[in-house]
Amino acid sequence: MTTASDFTLSNAGLPSEREIETLAGALFADFDPATCASGIDSLLTKGDTAVIDRAAQKAQAFSDFDSYEGVVASLVHDYSQAEVLDYSQAGVLDYGQAVSHDYGQAPALDTHQAPSQVYSPALLSQSQADSQSALSTTKSVEKDEHASPSSAHTRIGSKTLEQIRADFPILHERVNGHQLVWFDNGATTQRPRQVIDRLVHYYEHENSNVHRGVHELADRSTDAMEKARQTVADFIGAPSAENIVFVRGTTEAINLVANAYVKQYLAPGDEIIVTLLEHHANIVPWQIIAAETGALIKVAPIDESGQIILSEYEKLFTPRTKFASATQVSNALGTITPVAEMIQIAHRHGVPILIDGAQSVAHIPVNVSALDADFFVFSGHKIYAPTGVGVVYGKKERLAAAKPYQGGGNMIKDVTFERTIYNEAPAKFEAGTAAIAQIVGLGAALEYVSAIGIADIGRYEHELTQYAMGEMRKIPGLHLIGNAAAKAGVLSFVLDGHDIFEIGEYLNRFGIAVRSGHHCAQPVLRHFGLEGTVRPTLAVYNSTDDIDEMVKALWSLSAK
Ligand SMILES: Cc1ncc(COP(=O)(O)O)c(C=O)c1O
Repeated sequence: MTTASDFTLSNAGLPSEREIETLAGALFADFDPATCASGIDSLLTKGDTAVIDRAAQKAQAFSDFDSYEGVVASLVHDYSQAEVLDYSQAGVLDYGQAVSHDYGQAPALDTHQAPSQVYSPALLSQSQADSQSALSTTKSVEKDEHASPSSAHTRIGSKTLEQIRADFPILHERVNGHQLVWFDNGATTQRPRQVIDRLVHYYEHENSNVHRGVHELADRSTDAMEKARQTVADFIGAPSAENIVFVRGTTEAINLVANAYVKQYLAPGDEIIVTLLEHHANIVPWQIIAAETGALIKVAPIDESGQIILSEYEKLFTPRTKFASATQVSNALGTITPVAEMIQIAHRHGVPILIDGAQSVAHIPVNVSALDADFFVFSGHKIYAPTGVGVVYGKKERLAAAKPYQGGGNMIKDVTFERTIYNEAPAKFEAGTAAIAQIVGLGAALEYVSAIGIADIGRYEHELTQYAMGEMRKIPGLHLIGNAAAKAGVLSFVLDGHDIFEIGEYLNRFGIAVRSGHHCAQPVLRHFGLEGTVRPTLAVYNSTDDIDEMVKALWSLSAK
């Protein structure tokens, strides 16, 4: 029987087409691909009470709801919420287009009837936003796919682009006589004044080691660090601060999970599944423990756009599969992978899974509880926080089953020379003095992002990505690498007749910082026959002016 849990969206706003299909199939007796779109449309628009009634009647059987009204409210709420976020996460501008694509001949949805918050004027200037209704402005965005999506007055959540840029002092640096254009966000982001000030405040008023003191500053420092832990938990939808372990970054996070949790379950011939898209940090730790235990690494293939082939992914799982690990956004191609489905597949086979959120957490909303990820990891410095701090989110039972990662102070309850009794998680994994100031800075960075609104940031960056790709494709001889429909702001490319390092250095002459190289993702680049690409990567403070500067330089280089 269908249960209420079937209606939990996978990622607080990333309902996959499969989830929509499951939901529609469960809700509507007459569900078939041809009627599905209109069914969901009716539910979304809240206009067809008969459909909602039917949904509610079915859902009445669900034990989790105690009232008929609650069921209706919950379904409508979930769907309207999901729809709002679907744009930024799935990388799809036109919902109707996406549905028609997925359901073959199904008629496109009438997007203009959808809930108005879907079309929050986040991508429009304040004056445009004031003078146009949300629905009519949407039409203009949809008509011209590559219309310039930003100006100084563009609203991104609670701020304008101009205000956001003013928050980042380094953006005012001049490099080689030009104002800095920072397109190396995939490697590391810049820090806003709010984070810098928080670090200064910490060192001026709170600096102390944590947990072990009886004095005022030890309390202040401990409070600041533990507050940051709660902020992280809230930001990624973890049930509790106890699920959050602080480490140095994503690399250490994956090494921790591999060694502390996975390794103990491996025997010769057991399997770990990763994907072709992985960063070396999500390959090498698994290879090391595989070599130590005799386990094997299996690699999920991708299609020509750079997207995981889900049907092939499922085929990799066998009774010998002990763990899976996958990136949510490819750092080399920008592909947003269908982690919700991948987690479901892994769990169907009884396999726990880690999601590498290094390139996703700053760009799309993440809810680890809704996703049901066993582990989720990310680095602070890729989300406007200091270097030297990262996060392992782990489900309570997984962290409890994991062995200590490093031994030392703080991770113990009691030590004698005969034995040691370990602390509970997260302290069990935090031996020694933590990167306290950096952790506090991470808390400030997440507060900064939350105050703007991560869904709005995702939407804005999606528009910027579309704009950049449109402009870059016009340059003769330029080839974008990675064209998945769901794509974050990673604009990997090569340019005929020009070496990738030459291109990077040429752009640097104009103050434009991009990365040239293999991006620590050699397997996926080699799959495309490349040893490296030039990789501009976008963040919330980038503008169409930044893109225009780069495109102008690339035009002149391509003519040489
Ligand atoms: C997808 C992905 N995973 C892992 C990492 C490693 O992150 P860090 O160097 O912060 O440990 C990166 C860094 O670029 C990445 O992009």
